[in-house]
Order: sequence, then C-alpha cells, then structure tokens
Amino acid sequence: MNKDNIIFRLEREDDHHSTELMIREAFWNVYRPGCSEHFVMHMLRNDPAFIKELDIVMEKGGELIGQNCFMKTIINADDGRVIPVLTMGPICITPSLQRQGYGKMLLDYSLEKASALGFGAVLFEGNIAFYSKCGFDYAGNFGIRYHDMPKDSDQSFFLCKELRKGCLDGVTGVYQTPAAYYVNDEDTERFDKAFPKKEKLKLPGQIF
Ligand SMILES: CC(C)(COP(=O)(O)OP(=O)(O)OC[C@H]1O[C@@H](n2cnc3c(N)ncnc32)[C@H](O)[C@@H]1OP(=O)(O)O)[C@@H](O)C(=O)NCCC(=O)NCCS
Repeated sequence: MNKDNIIFRLEREDDHHSTELMIREAFWNVYRPGCSEHFVMHMLRNDPAFIKELDIVMEKGGELIGQNCFMKTIINADDGRVIPVLTMGPICITPSLQRQGYGKMLLDYSLEKASALGFGAVLFEGNIAFYSKCGFDYAGNFGIRYHDMPKDSDQSFFLCKELRKGCLDGVTGVYQTPAAYYVNDEDTERFDKAFPKKEKLKLPGQIF
C-alpha cells in the first residue's frame, strides 16, 4: 500500500453523488440483495444528529476511495441517566482497494478526529474481525445492550470503543440507533433509480 498520496478531508457538497455511488458499489449485494446504505447516507446528512465535522472522505491520488461518518446518539442508562455517545457509518472502501489496509487507516483517522472533538465513546453494529483492529470490543463487555433485543440474546454484532478511557465506567444500559438510519424499501428503490442499473443477487452470507 502506498500511503504517500492519501489524504483525508471533510466531504463537500459536490462530493455527495460520488460518495453515494462509491457506497453503493461497496455495499451492493454484501448484506442483502442490492443495498440501502447509499440512501441512508443521503438521509443522514440532513439529520440534526449528523456530525458534519466527522463526515470524512479519503482520497488516493485525487480519487475518492473511502468514506466514514458519525451520528450523535444516546445510551439510556439503567440508573436513569442519558449518556451521549456516537454511532458510526456507513463506512466503506472502494471495492478494488479493499483488504489492503485502507479501511484501518480511515477508521484510525476518523476515531482520532472524533476523540479530538471530545466525544467519549462509539457504539455500532459491525464485524469484530475488522473493528477489533482499531480497538473495538463487544459492547456487552461494557455492560451496554442493543435496543429491542432480549437481554440474553446474541449481540456479538454490537461493538463499542471508548475514545476517552473509562467514560463508560459505572454505566450499564441500552443503546439507541438514531431514527435516521431506518429507511424503507420503497424510498430506497425510488432513490436507487437515479443510479446505474445493477443486478440484485441473493448470495450466501447476506444477513437480510
Ligand atoms: C469493511 C471495510 C470498510 C474494511 O476496509 P478494508 O480496507 O477492506 O480493510 P483493511 O484492509 O483495512 O482490513 C484490516 C484487517 O481487518 C480485517 N478485516 C477487514 N475486512 C474484513 C472482513 N470483511 N472480514 C473479516 N476481517 C476483515 C482483516 O484482518 C484485515 O487484515 P487482513 O486483510 O490482513 O486480514 C471494507 O472492506 C468495505 O468497504 N466493505 C464493504 C462495506 C462494509 O461492509 N462496510 C462496513 C459495514 S459495518
């Protein structure tokens, strides 16, 4: 991997379509036939919980090769407190450059930036195989549960990283996914029509 010509910067308005196109390419047929993440990104940007200072794109040689973004959300603590935290994503690397270390670089950069802005912890749904490389652990190990799931259910998809060490000490409770992540299939289909036609495939390993 040549790290010399990599830059990180904030997403600009004139990047929006290219970013969504890249997200669509990266997520297409990965978790379901087709994908909704490009539309999710489109909706998140207009949500008050979206953090514009953490709407990050990665370029290599002037080409967009990755993106990550963050939203404000909360943990409803068992003792009645409301703990502000971050959630993350969509995050992606353009398909032709995946598994070459760029995702880890992007994630390390984004988390450092979130930390510098004073945020305490990030919780979200992801694969521990990748995110553990950047210090994520199972959220259950911090005493945080995913919303709308039984206490003893398998929540190994639900991950957490403290940006400020100890900030979740003494906190147990339930994490809430920001409402803006929930898009419906009809709206996604309508939005997707503005993109080049792509075949939806049902593939092994998809989770939806
Ligand atoms: C997930 C994603 C952002 C990771 O970026 P990447 O550049 O491919 O990952 P890296 O090369 O930096 O990975 C670093 C290490 O994490 C682990 N890892 C990365 N992706 C993994 C995967 N899909 N499954 C298992 N381990 C993975 C590996 O150990 C990898 O090192 P290795 O390739 O030497 O084994 C990228 O693959 C992507 O865009 N995927 C499609 C969209 C997606 O799933 N986004 C995340 C949704 S939660």
